[in-house]
Amino acid sequence: MSERISVMITAEQIAARVRELGAQITKDYKDRSLVLVGVLKGSFVFAADLARAIDLPLRIDFLGVRSYGEGTESSGVVQITHDLSKPISNEDVLFVEDIVDTGLTIAHLVDLFRTRNPRSVKVCSLLHKPARAKVSVNVDYLGFTIEDKFVIGYGLDFAEKYRNLPYIGVVERD
Ligand code: IMP
Ligand code: MG
Repeated sequence: MSERISVMITAEQIAARVRELGAQITKDYKDRSLVLVGVLKGSFVFAADLARAIDLPLRIDFLGVRSYGEGTESSGVVQITHDLSKPISNEDVLFVEDIVDTGLTIAHLVDLFRTRNPRSVKVCSLLHKPARAKVSVNVDYLGFTIEDKFVIGYGLDFAEKYRNLPYIGVVERD
């Protein structure tokens, strides 16, 4: 089986959208206490670019999660494999996700984080696949809505490969 990759969103399109999201977040979080929480591993590329597009004195932290599920489908049972390095009480938390697919992972994380007494919790996701939603998730800042295809690149993997592609692609199997 060989794998061909077709480009869905170019590096230039991503960069332009990340700049827009960064400008919006800069406006909205002025004079707040912003903590970006990147959800590993998928968000590491997006988080690094987004952080540099935000002109505020923010903190950045990462959360390692593992979702128990069958194959590529998440189950909604989310285990924290690496927790934040500092508490978030009274801070404005903005989750940074690569993709909201079924919505189960981010819905669980938002619920969990509300118990830690932050001032606010919002979600920024580069991608959203509404066709696959199992729970409704409010994505406060969204890069792109995409159709129901398995995507890779810009942090997203297929069996841990392709995270380093500078664009969002689709694996075509033939
Ligand atoms: P959810 O809980 O179904 O919303 O899944 C969220 C996680 O599943 C994402 O953060 C990704 O790590 C992974 N995921 C979902 N769809 C894709 C995809 O198309 N490509 C790569 N990873 C995906
Ligand atoms: Mg993820």
